Amino acid sequence: MRLARSFPDHVISKEALEAEFAKELKGEDTGRRAYIIEEKSTRKPVGWATIRIHQFQRKMTAADVGLALGEKTAWSKGYGTETARLLLDEVFRQLNLHRAEWWTFSENNVSVQLAKKLGFKEEARLRDAVFFDNRYHDLVVLGLLKQEFESIRAVSETSRDKTTVSYLQSP
Ligand SMILES: CC(C)(COP(=O)(O)OP(=O)(O)OC[C@H]1O[C@@H](n2cnc3c(N)ncnc32)[C@H](O)[C@@H]1OP(=O)(O)O)[C@@H](O)C(=O)NCCC(=O)NCCS
Repeated sequence: MRLARSFPDHVISKEALEAEFAKELKGEDTGRRAYIIEEKSTRKPVGWATIRIHQFQRKMTAADVGLALGEKTAWSKGYGTETARLLLDEVFRQLNLHRAEWWTFSENNVSVQLAKKLGFKEEARLRDAVFFDNRYHDLVVLGLLKQEFESIRAVSETSRDKTTVSYLQSP
């Protein structure tokens, strides 16, 4: 998980990780939802994803979304795109939040490209905000609002409808 999120050298013990999941399983942590990403054909776990609802406001309006494919063989096959779209459905259509945030360090081009492909806009660069590999790195913060998400979805749903119609009309 070398390039996961904004803290690539963050290491957590198995016990600490199990304690985190146990809290969620018991329903004690309502601010975080964690998922395992499985490859459909093999049912093999290849990564994880999270939604973290911001807790610093009294109203729940925003969440961070994060994901990582731990198996490098799973990269660049569209799994990240599919997973991120499912996370955004959850954030905007189930939790009905107003805003999603995506944080990564500036050299993580694939992560930034993926966020922008989904409609996120770069909103801030936090200079020298994280330290690893013996130097500081900038953090990039990207944001997506519910109305932006819905208009992007409306376009993709309309074009999918058109594809179906033209397919049905084909001889
Ligand atoms: C970042 C990550 C989640 C992307 O998932 P993925 O399944 O590899 O990405 P996808 O195949 O869905 O591609 C999404 C977009 O990323 C870009 N991309 C993907 N692979 C790329 C590559 N090898 N080189 C350059 N750009 C690439 C493209 O813009 C692509 O969209 P396109 O295929 O429509 O052009 C995944 O690579 C990963 O887990 N990396 C390590 C952990 C990490 O960085 N997590 C994110 C931290 S915020």
